[in-house]
Amino acid sequence: MTVFTEETRARAREIIARYPADRSRSALLPLLHLVQSEEGYVSPAGVEFCAEVLGLNKAQVGAVATFYTMYKRKPTGDYLVSVCTNTMCNVLGGQEVYDTLAEHLGVGHDETTEDGKITLEHAECLAACDYGPVMTVNYDFFDGVDPQTALGVVEELRAGGRPMPTRGARLCSLKEMSVQLAGFADEREGAVADGGPGEPTLRGLRLAEQHGISVSGFDPNTPIRSKAEADKAAEQAKAAQAAGAAANPPAADRKPAGDGAVAQQRTLKEAEAQK
Ligand code: FES
Repeated sequence: MTVFTEETRARAREIIARYPADRSRSALLPLLHLVQSEEGYVSPAGVEFCAEVLGLNKAQVGAVATFYTMYKRKPTGDYLVSVCTNTMCNVLGGQEVYDTLAEHLGVGHDETTEDGKITLEHAECLAACDYGPVMTVNYDFFDGVDPQTALGVVEELRAGGRPMPTRGARLCSLKEMSVQLAGFADEREGAVADGGPGEPTLRGLRLAEQHGISVSGFDPNTPIRSKAEADKAAEQAKAAQAAGAAANPPAADRKPAGDGAVAQQRTLKEAEAQK
């Protein structure tokens, strides 16, 4: 039976602390990703771990873990390749992409290659119909694929490379992705800054701009900060707030200017006059 590391236990405590004490069971979803980040899937030991730290029983945890397809119930490859075979992608060639990969890799749906590198699955709509046919590798998108480009991606993965997704973050292993899904930032330099949104995604924004429609306060160029940058900005904001409070103490804390007694009398008189 897996013994979860102290680092995982510390992370579990951090996740649970993000939720109100009387609703700690809400931490179950990120906790399942957390155990998946250590074992590569949600094992019986992972279910037991979640139940133990949340004070639930294993049936309650199992009911959630088996509901969502992102929680894997058996050992999964380093790279989860999901090919959309839903309606839009299908008419654009998604099924052909899936069939080509299945034949080339010698695996079917939810099966893993013998070298343990790739798990193939056919996926329902991946919410990127405007880029179809699409496939994802550990949830990062490869848009507009055809059988040949899809084969190129999996071959590069098997050779130890990490091909660049069409958009979104840089590729990582399924275990590394599970850490992020558990709510911990990817600290690799540029990990969340690669690849801007594609034109089909921006079409609505372009039309809004064209017709003078805007949402107040919306800035499409708002940078996405890493955890380190966000922590630093929060510290700077706190320091600035403390400096401001020191420079402008509340009126009650201020010493009367000049002759204290005279100034205090004046303040009292002004208050009387305002009644
Ligand atoms: S049908 Fe494939 S992304 Fe929607």
